[in-house]
Amino acid sequence: MGKVIAGNWKMHHGPAAAAAFFSRFRPRAALDSVEILFFPPDLSLAVSMETVGVPAGFGVQNIHPEKAGPFTGETSGEMAREAGARFALIGHSERRHIFGESDAEVSAKAGAAVRAGLVPVICVGELLEERRAGLLEPVLRRQIGAIVASVATASRFMVAYEPVWAIGTGETATPGDAAEAHAIVRSALGELGAAPILYGGSVKPGNAASLMTAPDVDGVLVGGASLDPDVFARIAEAGATAGSGDPVGGTWSAG
Ligand code: 13P
Repeated sequence: MGKVIAGNWKMHHGPAAAAAFFSRFRPRAALDSVEILFFPPDLSLAVSMETVGVPAGFGVQNIHPEKAGPFTGETSGEMAREAGARFALIGHSERRHIFGESDAEVSAKAGAAVRAGLVPVICVGELLEERRAGLLEPVLRRQIGAIVASVATASRFMVAYEPVWAIGTGETATPGDAAEAHAIVRSALGELGAAPILYGGSVKPGNAASLMTAPDVDGVLVGGASLDPDVFARIAEAGATAGSGDPVGGTWSAG
């Protein structure tokens, strides 16, 4: 298994724009050497799966912890799975910091994704003030500690390290920063530490290859640069190059 190249469209690309994206998305990479994932808005999931045209997995950007109930505006993991999603972003920094999701809610959602048969992609990352205060390691250990029990029985899960100060800012962690944080995440995962760890935060075609050749960086979670089919294709191509001969992902599960 090669690098994971995941595009988080956030609240962009309704159904028409999603279909237009896939009419042009044709990476020149050997597509069996990368795993391409898309996280479109829920309303664009069906048309995305119909029009994708290349091998790719699909996921949702958020789920509610319950299976069903009086939760206006929410979507359950079971519903996402029924609609064809196989993955779910859990605890994205925008969920944590704009919508106030706590570690406990993130943990509940991670467990709900596993219950629903979705592969959780757990997002963690520190604020700029936490980094400046020397709190990178305790923040990551707290965030990972909150989800370990929830994913312990997952057949597969991933973590995305997204430093909050690098999301949508054009500031990117250096490959060394990413490697340092990923090593902390791997250590905090303990016996689950073989899970793939993606880097996210202003990934672009120009920095993708160097990030993905850093130690412990098993792929990328791309926001803004995933919205343009040619730009995202170039990131997938960088992943194919960076991942060649790389044994990443040999053990994905806790057993
Ligand atoms: P940007 O690539 O736009 O910085 O977003 C990163 C992100 O939040 C992906 O989930």
